[in-house]
Amino acid sequence: MGQPTDLHLALLLLFLALCWGQRSNPDVRRPSCDRCDRRLVCNCSYGGWTCVPMVTDRALTLDLSFNYIAAVTGDDLTGHGVLGSLSLHGNKLAAIHPSAFDALWSLEELDLSDNQLTALNRRWFIKLGALRELNLLHNPYSCLGSHAFQTLVQLRRLRFGGPALEELKRGDLSGVAGLEELTVHANNLTRYETGALGYVWPLDRVTLSLRGPFLQNTALASAVLGDVSYPETQLVLEDLHVMRNQSVQPFRETASRRVRKITFRNFSVSDEAIVDLLMVMNGAPLTSLFMDAITLMGEGRWERAKWTDHKSIDEFYIRNAVVLKVFHFASFLELSFLLQYPSKVSVINSQVFVMPCITSRLLVNLQYLDLSDNLLTDLTMTETLCNGDGSLKGLRVLNFSGNALKSLSTMSQQVAKLSKLTHLDISRNGYSSMPMGCPWPSTLRYLNISRAKLTTITPCLPITLEVLDLSNNDINGFNLFLPALRELHLSGNKLLRLPSGSLFPNLQTLSIQSNTLNTFSPSDIRAFGRLQDLRAGRNKFVCSCDFVNFLRSALQGVGDVRLTDGEESYVCDSPLHLQGEPVGGVRLSVVVCHRVLFVSLSCGAALFVGMLACVLLWRLHAFWYLKMMWSWLRAKRSSQRRRRRDGEESEPLLSYDAFVSYSERDAGWVENFLVPELEEPSFSRENDEDATTHRAPRPLTLCLHKRDFLPGHWIVDNIMSAMERSRRTVFILSENFVLSDWCRYELDFSHFKLFDGSAGGEAAILVLLEPLSKEDVPKRFCKLRKLMSSNTYLEWPQEEEGRGEFWRRLRCALGGED
Ligand SMILES: *[C@@H]1O[C@H](CO)[C@@H](O)[C@H](O)[C@H]1NC(C)=O
Ligand SMILES: *[C@@H]1O[C@H](CO)[C@@H](O)[C@H](O)[C@H]1NC(C)=O
Ligand SMILES: *[C@@H]1O[C@H](CO)[C@@H](O)[C@H](O)[C@H]1NC(C)=O
Ligand SMILES: *[C@@H]1O[C@H](CO)[C@@H](O)[C@H](O)[C@H]1NC(C)=O
Ligand SMILES: *[C@@H]1O[C@H](CO)[C@@H](O)[C@H](O)[C@H]1NC(C)=O
Repeated sequence: MGQPTDLHLALLLLFLALCWGQRSNPDVRRPSCDRCDRRLVCNCSYGGWTCVPMVTDRALTLDLSFNYIAAVTGDDLTGHGVLGSLSLHGNKLAAIHPSAFDALWSLEELDLSDNQLTALNRRWFIKLGALRELNLLHNPYSCLGSHAFQTLVQLRRLRFGGPALEELKRGDLSGVAGLEELTVHANNLTRYETGALGYVWPLDRVTLSLRGPFLQNTALASAVLGDVSYPETQLVLEDLHVMRNQSVQPFRETASRRVRKITFRNFSVSDEAIVDLLMVMNGAPLTSLFMDAITLMGEGRWERAKWTDHKSIDEFYIRNAVVLKVFHFASFLELSFLLQYPSKVSVINSQVFVMPCITSRLLVNLQYLDLSDNLLTDLTMTETLCNGDGSLKGLRVLNFSGNALKSLSTMSQQVAKLSKLTHLDISRNGYSSMPMGCPWPSTLRYLNISRAKLTTITPCLPITLEVLDLSNNDINGFNLFLPALRELHLSGNKLLRLPSGSLFPNLQTLSIQSNTLNTFSPSDIRAFGRLQDLRAGRNKFVCSCDFVNFLRSALQGVGDVRLTDGEESYVCDSPLHLQGEPVGGVRLSVVVCHRVLFVSLSCGAALFVGMLACVLLWRLHAFWYLKMMWSWLRAKRSSQRRRRRDGEESEPLLSYDAFVSYSERDAGWVENFLVPELEEPSFSRENDEDATTHRAPRPLTLCLHKRDFLPGHWIVDNIMSAMERSRRTVFILSENFVLSDWCRYELDFSHFKLFDGSAGGEAAILVLLEPLSKEDVPKRFCKLRKLMSSNTYLEWPQEEEGRGEFWRRLRCALGGED
């Protein structure tokens, strides 16, 4: 990247003209960006803006990255007094007005990286007293300019540099003290004043890209390393390409300054350089060596450095390593001088398909081995663990995550003799089944078999476990007693219900998200005696009332168990009208919620009303009336039918003088007194003193149900027709009459008959067989009571002398005397 060309300048001027042109014209307003969320984070990245858009003054975070903004003017950011974070990363920023950031007195983070700033202006930062983080990487400035950061007293993280940075002078970082992190990209640095990066300590972490100096100017590289190396500082060296003896000389500085942790990132190195590095670092108190994206160009022949001393080394961490000559790569047999010390070794994502047993045996101090994301199979893993013979006997943590292991029983046999093993991570492997029993070391506490293909759980799992991760398998049931378990992860399986809490008396954390749970209840939760932290979101919840109420109170923190995965992950799946609604927001009506109570209450009420009605109807003898009415209607219809059959014109044939309605119990009286007296007036009667004066009375024809009813006909029909064919109806009233159903019918038929109009008003004749006052007649015989009060009635005299008169009157009433 050279000087900006004329074309660049012309374009820049055009941009500026556009933006300022818009501003100076009062009619054209600045474009505005309203992509702010509830937390007032305004994400205006990738918006295509060419100048700073208008954003609400209340914004706390403003992300303007990846736009085409070329300039920030003096009033673009006025009013943003509360803005905490501003990113202009990845724009075309070439000009910033000296007072552009003056209003941002709350600003803590400012990112100006990946722009076109050719020079830094100390005036920009003069009001940014609160700034903690400043990123100026990848801009084409060649130097910082002195005292640029003098006013940034709160600065904790500073990143600067880029391909154009050539010079760092003492005083460039004056005022900067107490930095926690410093990142300098100085691959093309050619001039460095010793001490330029000094005095910014205490530094937790320094990241340096010094590719050029390491290749061409090791003195300069040494000077830089010397300025930032402190025992507590983690040194990160990026983008180095170290091939020759000379290149490693700067590490003499780090060694002499007792740096303990070095990270190489994007680092390519030859055998020669490694040997030299080991020699340079001989006896240095280095404890941790991290290598990320390392390319080994050689063949692993490092034995020339055998005599060196690295006993302080404790941790090797290698990730994304590429071995160019992998088939020439020598075994690590000669490396016991290096491998006998570390207790932690990680070789991650580096295409390791085996670590030979002989190498494993060199790692005599090993406590932690991480071979995740490699190509181990059951067979090569067996080799790595020396066929389970208990080499690596100090091992406490073993991580085989992300390999191609398939047999859980092989795994358990291989580790069974590792008598100190507490953690085993075999997640992301190909396990699909569990044997019924597995030997495990009795120390095993943590087991991770997540992201495999397990479908069932067997007693293969050791009961000593305290943390068990089985998430993202296909498990559909969990029924195993694990008394020591504190944490159980079952998310991403196919469980239909919570496992029974009584199986896990010590469980504190349970995650069971993304299963097929429909519901769970307070008692399910209570069964877990010690549960504190439950994550059960993203299941197929049936939003019943109990569940909604329970969950809402649980989300509000009522009870001992907290749902720590957030309210928004609990969503109803059914009933249909609630699908997709957050459970916490669902309101269900009382009718739905207390359905049983509601139904039983309403049934009870209906039953009660029904019973009340029945009692009422019974009290009012409604049934009796209904029964009667129905009988009458039936009888009426059949009588009409009969009449129609007999011919419209024919009058009802009056074949009786009277129909006698009486109770069966009064039959004696009717047969012994009434019938003889009326039907066949006897000789003896003619001798009566009353009768002698008169001619013999005409015999009357009576209709008696016993005698005259047609057998085989319905009794009601018989009654009807008898009454129709009788001129009068004589009611023999007595206590018995009142008690007889049929008599009542007869009485009431006579009532209907009265209204029929087919007979005269005097159709009914009452004969009182025994003294019976109106009050003795039950109320429901209103008809009778009415008749008794309106019609005069005949009373059967108990003494002999009144009877003649009685018969006379009766005969008279029946019309027999006329
Ligand atoms: C170093 O600077 C030159 C020009 O000054 C440039 O061409 C080169 O790409 C830069 N090197 C790196 C590693 O960026
Ligand atoms: C790694 O370093 C090389 C130079 O050695 C550089 O070209 C490349 O971009 C770097 N890669 C990353 C990912 O930083
Ligand atoms: C590397 O260089 C140093 C000093 O320049 C020298 O003492 C040492 O012998 C060299 N080592 C090798 C292996 O060339
Ligand atoms: C094992 O490695 C994986 C992937 O590198 C990592 O996520 C996991 O935390 C490691 N397990 C342990 C117990 O350190
Ligand atoms: C189990 O392993 C997976 C994948 O490596 C990881 O994401 C998870 O955090 C581990 N579980 C626990 C409880 O550490």
